[in-house]
Amino acid sequence: MRFAQGLDYATIVAASEKVAWTVDEVFQDRRIDPSKPIVPASWVGTDGLPFLRQQEQLTLNHCRAFSYAHLLGNFEEFIPLHLTDGVPPAWQANRAHLRALLRFGEEELKHQELFRRMEAVLEESCGHPFGRYFDADKVRVTAFTEAILAHPTLPRFLILLALEWGTQRHYVDSIRDHTEERGAPLYVDVLKAHWLEEAQHAKTDALEVARLAKDKTPDELRVAFADVAALGALVDATFVGQVDEEIDTVQQVTGRTFSDEESATLRETLHRSMSACITGVALSHPSFAKVALELSPEGAATLGIARELH
Ligand SMILES: [Fe+2]
Ligand SMILES: [Fe+2]
Repeated sequence: MRFAQGLDYATIVAASEKVAWTVDEVFQDRRIDPSKPIVPASWVGTDGLPFLRQQEQLTLNHCRAFSYAHLLGNFEEFIPLHLTDGVPPAWQANRAHLRALLRFGEEELKHQELFRRMEAVLEESCGHPFGRYFDADKVRVTAFTEAILAHPTLPRFLILLALEWGTQRHYVDSIRDHTEERGAPLYVDVLKAHWLEEAQHAKTDALEVARLAKDKTPDELRVAFADVAALGALVDATFVGQVDEEIDTVQQVTGRTFSDEESATLRETLHRSMSACITGVALSHPSFAKVALELSPEGAATLGIARELH
């Protein structure tokens, strides 16, 4: 398949060894300055809301920095389990393939630690707790992981491919190439570290998608995209829950009580910006559109991807 041309597992493993980092190296006991925004205003999207005072805008910015780390860290919980399903029966014939999958899973476990440490540093630095959709007892993340793993392997690799390309694009567009308003240095370094390893993951995903899609009928491929849409809906439900946590946190921290109308506007605006930051950048990614169109134009259409645009 065209989208997997030029990719091979041995090169992916070598690149992964070259860029590897540890969580301690990234943090170096640094903290975040809570008097400033942590992420670019575009991540929050509330600049145009006239009823928000400066302190509330600042706290919302901190909430969004927290939410991004919190959601990504929890989304990644399903990946190591999912990847073990990706191990082909004939793995002895290709050790690099097995290494690529196992390194990928281990890196995601490390990323979960990275994001958990980021959550803790944000709370210490800002001096208050942030609302969490995923509870500490792991009830929600267990249910979320099980719901994802209930879908077949191919659509799981497809949504992962989209999300991993999405985080790449989001970092490059909103942080790396955005010199005036990049955000807090520690937060940027955390995103950069994540970005360095996600590049290899997206390549492995593309190879797995090509391998799994090879023997599927057009109808099976169309159905795989219906599964991708269902997986997207599972992710979206977590956005709804985390946005409510953001609104609760800003009210608790600033003492402000929003009217029903203000809360509704805020909920809609924050949901829109969160979707844009995580799933919007993923499902509308030009490389993902190419994959979807090569596999199933009909399936791609169910995700709103049309051939004439690409
Ligand atoms: Fe990751
Ligand atoms: Fe990843």
